[in-house]
Amino acid sequence: MTTQTIAGPAMRVRGLEKSYGKLEVLRGVDFDVAPGSIFALLGSNGAGKTTTVRILATLLKADAGTASVNGFDVATQPANVRESISLTGQFAAVDEILSGWENLVLVARLRHLKDPGSIADDLLRRFSLTDAGPRKVSTYSGGMRRRLDIAMSLIGNPSVIFLDEPTAGLDPEARIEVWHAVKELAEYGTTVLLTTQYLDEAEQLADRIAILHQGRIIVNGTLAELKRLFPPAKVEYVEKQPTLEEIFLAVIGSGEKSDATGTTTGGQG
Ligand SMILES: Nc1ncnc2c1ncn2[C@@H]1O[C@H](COP(=O)(O)OP(=O)(O)OP(=O)(O)O)[C@@H](O)[C@H]1O
Ligand SMILES: [Mg+2]
Repeated sequence: MTTQTIAGPAMRVRGLEKSYGKLEVLRGVDFDVAPGSIFALLGSNGAGKTTTVRILATLLKADAGTASVNGFDVATQPANVRESISLTGQFAAVDEILSGWENLVLVARLRHLKDPGSIADDLLRRFSLTDAGPRKVSTYSGGMRRRLDIAMSLIGNPSVIFLDEPTAGLDPEARIEVWHAVKELAEYGTTVLLTTQYLDEAEQLADRIAILHQGRIIVNGTLAELKRLFPPAKVEYVEKQPTLEEIFLAVIGSGEKSDATGTTTGGQG
């Protein structure tokens, strides 16, 4: 249950600009994220995904434009924003020497919550880590660590969670485990903004997908809407739906020719 009822979007971003010296990273970024939805921000290396997340999480100030999270302005009400969010970066912030359970209890204690033990038990169950709970995190796989990291970020019930490349560096199986965890977040009503370079990740998870390119959002829609922008290529009798990768390369105007046969990576199960 979310503790706050908000009217309007969980995030609203308008005309966001940010430069580092002469490098103009964000040049007018606009998007909205609906409460309880998963929003994927796609972009190449250096497109400004992390910069956008850091501004929304109040860790960085924008040069121009506005952004609000949960109805609170990131520039003028940063404390309120911080109370409603949690951020997990690419590198899991878990303590290796402690067990998974102890990590969770520690965070719950730091947040002065009642009954840290049962909070830890619940989260371990939710993220399928009950058996691993008593073990030191140093014995966990990458996917288990990432799940624990996401579990830790949920302590205190933030209504908005930022996941900056949640599956970077994970093997395919571990990625799927993390995907399950992320899908669950949205089912519990948490709003998720995730950044990714994995196009299949956005296809799997996101209610809406936005592509950040050269400082602006150049496409924003559901996967179905994005696919409609690029009608399937008709080759004799076979109708081929474009993959998100093809859409991505087409909209960012990559000169490279991609293999038109596409790749199938176990999508049939
Ligand atoms: N503190 C900083 N000082 C100077 N330049 C920076 C700083 N932080 C980021 N940049 C530059 O800004 C650009 C955008 O960086 P950002 O980290 O937002 O990209 P990203 O989309 O998250 O990339 P990646 O996919 O590699 O994580 C990059 O060119 C980066 O080198
Ligand atoms: Mg980044």
